[in-house]
Amino acid sequence: MNKYIKLPGLIDIHVHLRDPGQTHKEDFHSGSVAALAGGITTVFDMPNNLKPVFTKHVLEEKLEIAAQKSACNFGLYFGTNGENISEFEGIYDKVVGLKVYLSETTGKYTVTDEEKIQKIFASWICPKPIVVHAEGKKADLAIKYARDFKRKLHVAHVSTAEELDQVLEAKKSGMPISCEVTPHHLFLTDKDLDRLKGYGLVKPPLATRKDQDYLWAHINEIDCVASDHAPHTMEEKESDTKYFGMPGLETLLPLLLTAVHEGRMCMDDIVRMTNTNPQRIFDFKQNEGNIVEVDPEFEFEIKNENLKTKSGWSPFEGKTLNGKITNVQVKL
Ligand code: DOR
Ligand code: ZN
Repeated sequence: MNKYIKLPGLIDIHVHLRDPGQTHKEDFHSGSVAALAGGITTVFDMPNNLKPVFTKHVLEEKLEIAAQKSACNFGLYFGTNGENISEFEGIYDKVVGLKVYLSETTGKYTVTDEEKIQKIFASWICPKPIVVHAEGKKADLAIKYARDFKRKLHVAHVSTAEELDQVLEAKKSGMPISCEVTPHHLFLTDKDLDRLKGYGLVKPPLATRKDQDYLWAHINEIDCVASDHAPHTMEEKESDTKYFGMPGLETLLPLLLTAVHEGRMCMDDIVRMTNTNPQRIFDFKQNEGNIVEVDPEFEFEIKNENLKTKSGWSPFEGKTLNGKITNVQVKL
């Protein structure tokens, strides 16, 4: 029997490729090559660049850069701080959705003023999702406004039982709401911080074992897995300044295949969370020629020196995984 398995190319709905502005960390070329190495054939890139994607002009500049440099399929998010609402009208057909930061993270684009949050939800007159970075109680706030204005909501990187419960409860009420988890929240906890030091800093922070167990216990109800690939250089991560985020494009699929090997999820979950649901939620069709072939039993060790990401490191370095990517096809 053929030991290789073919899966539809993965769609990673949450990456930060840092281009333009911080291409010493990553750019569309290095980031998309890392994506392909990880079996990911489509990436959706976040707007919190040094010059945030808050205007049609900046969006068009970035679209051009991505079109020139990307080795895989891509989509871009628009961003808002509540001051650029007049730009919405001109960008609906150029983006995959709107990203709103309700909690602190890289780039200082957090919206805290409730009036502004309300105005954002009221003004996004588009069926494409509003994706929120909403930690703890902030998730409730986003759900409230999405419900009030009948917007499609996607909650990024759910990491605690409290956040997941809020989403699952809203789902039960029939709202168009979805969520994602990251591999680092599924495979690392706050116990890893002593070992990882600065490399373990990320938003939302690595959570407790109890929270992690809760995510695994509800894996069937979680819509997507997304890397939140957030590259910073090793020098930055080892400095006294706090840089939040970790690369993840190349380890996402091997980690999930390892979870299948261990009986914690099945291959259908991988397809559902990285392909079918992303297409459903973001209402698009990936080219069916985008294929990844894997050897699900192949055992190998994650080594920084083998990574394609410009950042050059992984929080999973030294970990032995089961499941290697053997071939990737992408139709550009
Ligand atoms: O740790 C994080 N880093 N979390 C985010 O939400 C953003 C990301 C980044 O852009 O560095
Ligand atoms: Zn992110």
